[in-house]
Amino acid sequence: MRRKLAAGNWKMNGLRADLDELDALARAHPAPAIDLLICPPATLLHEAATRVAAHPLAIGGQDCHIETAGAHTGKISAEMMRDAGATAVIVGHSERREDHEETSEQVRAKARTAQAAGLTAIVCLGESLPQREAQNTLDIIAGQLALSLPDNSTAENLVVAYEPIWAIGTGKIPTLAQIGEVHDFIRTRLERRFGAGVGRGTRILYGGSVKPDNAAEIFRTPNVDGALVGGASLKAADFSQIITALE
Ligand code: G3P
Repeated sequence: MRRKLAAGNWKMNGLRADLDELDALARAHPAPAIDLLICPPATLLHEAATRVAAHPLAIGGQDCHIETAGAHTGKISAEMMRDAGATAVIVGHSERREDHEETSEQVRAKARTAQAAGLTAIVCLGESLPQREAQNTLDIIAGQLALSLPDNSTAENLVVAYEPIWAIGTGKIPTLAQIGEVHDFIRTRLERRFGAGVGRGTRILYGGSVKPDNAAEIFRTPNVDGALVGGASLKAADFSQIITALE
């Protein structure tokens, strides 16, 4: 069975003092029944991983370069993240796809590089509001899935995160039926492409305005295997309630 995953994406937030939140999380969940992951900014990766070394809370990166090393000023490779203590990395977040014009082909190359470095690639996809209003959601998801996922992915080194762009940081969430429809669709596509083992074993997270007060109902939706949480992952008190809702 798929183990649930509560993942926090701190985005460009967090100074060293904020790592106290990780200690608080570890104290609140000494033996979690689900997988926990926090993705702080790159500056905090090593210290975060060191702090929680004795706890099952895992640390992940946010975005990595397509290549493994070289003349790319300001960029960070998957191997560097792994070396700093990360076990996963988020790729294809809509803030990367939109703000940095990343294509699904580039996302797939990043995911492949991450997997080759021993990281789990958390591949994000999701539709914009105009795309949903035009009833193109499933076509958009199908296209992103086809192009963004590396062929040789396994249930261990791949996680798919469905994040409708219009739900990110807005306080708006899709209806449970809408979330269920997209997650079921992703599950079917994963099974068709990777076979039953990988297709059924790969976790599909929902992301977009997950909060302590809506987490439990979202998590009751079939094929929702956890959450990728932005704002509500910054404070241990909030994220802890989301973890408890998943457990
Ligand atoms: O990657 C998580 C994210 O995009 C959702 O952000 O703040 O709506 O939970 P937020």
